[in-house]
Amino acid sequence: MRHNEGIYRKVNVVIYYSNTDHSKRIAEYIAQQSGFPLSDIFDLTEYTFDTAILVFPVHCQNIPQAVKILLDQLRTKALIPIATYGKMCCGNVLYEIQKRYNHIITAAAYVPTKHTYLHENEFADYESLNPILSKINSREKIVIPKTYKNPLSNICKGLRSRMGVKIYKDSKCNNCGKCNAACNNNAIAYGKTNRKCIRCLKCVEQCPQKALHFISRLPMRIYLRKKKYDKLIIYVK
Ligand SMILES: Cc1cc2nc3c(=O)[nH]c(=O)nc-3n(C[C@H](O)[C@H](O)[C@H](O)COP(=O)(O)O)c2cc1C
Repeated sequence: MRHNEGIYRKVNVVIYYSNTDHSKRIAEYIAQQSGFPLSDIFDLTEYTFDTAILVFPVHCQNIPQAVKILLDQLRTKALIPIATYGKMCCGNVLYEIQKRYNHIITAAAYVPTKHTYLHENEFADYESLNPILSKINSREKIVIPKTYKNPLSNICKGLRSRMGVKIYKDSKCNNCGKCNAACNNNAIAYGKTNRKCIRCLKCVEQCPQKALHFISRLPMRIYLRKKKYDKLIIYVK
């Protein structure tokens, strides 16, 4: 049985949007501890829930597009958004969710994880997320304060990632097309990316031949050298 079968009969859910599995692993922990069914954001066909826990990465200090589309469709009595971020800047995404979407937020968190473009340790302290688990049946609304977001971060988001990171294939590529199937943006064909690519690196992660690689270009490397902001922030009442 697939992990997410049966969610349509139940009223609670843990939804994840994840490209390199950091958010997915956190969602799996929360689903396991709460007993809520787990679903990939792209497998959802039902959008009405009692409590929805939504785990997703911060992209360029913003809410990823797939998450925005979901938030437009979601009908839930309580929402618990959990944003993972690569210790650069979490932006203001939880505050933006509170402001833009008409959901009652009963708990929320920013979780510092391994950055997609850096070789470093992954987030492992899952038990530090337990205060959220104690609030999953709450209907008490919380207020999320505004956090710092670079005022330029809304400009050319996709382009910045595309310019900063290059994806390339080596001779091990056998044109199996798994990268085409893995990509949620139709942004790659047989190892060659197009302008829709956001450099999420899902294709690199999932290539069965390990034929796809990435390099960060100089401006990205300089940016990633910045002092890291390594803080777990949990909002509960
Ligand atoms: C396109 C892109 C943009 C990102 N932007 C940020 C950012 O602005 N700040 C940050 O701290 N981390 C950023 N990250 C890092 C991810 O938020 C972080 O690694 C996250 O855990 C990845 O989650 P996933 O494996 O579930 O996709 C970015 C990653 C990608 C791929």
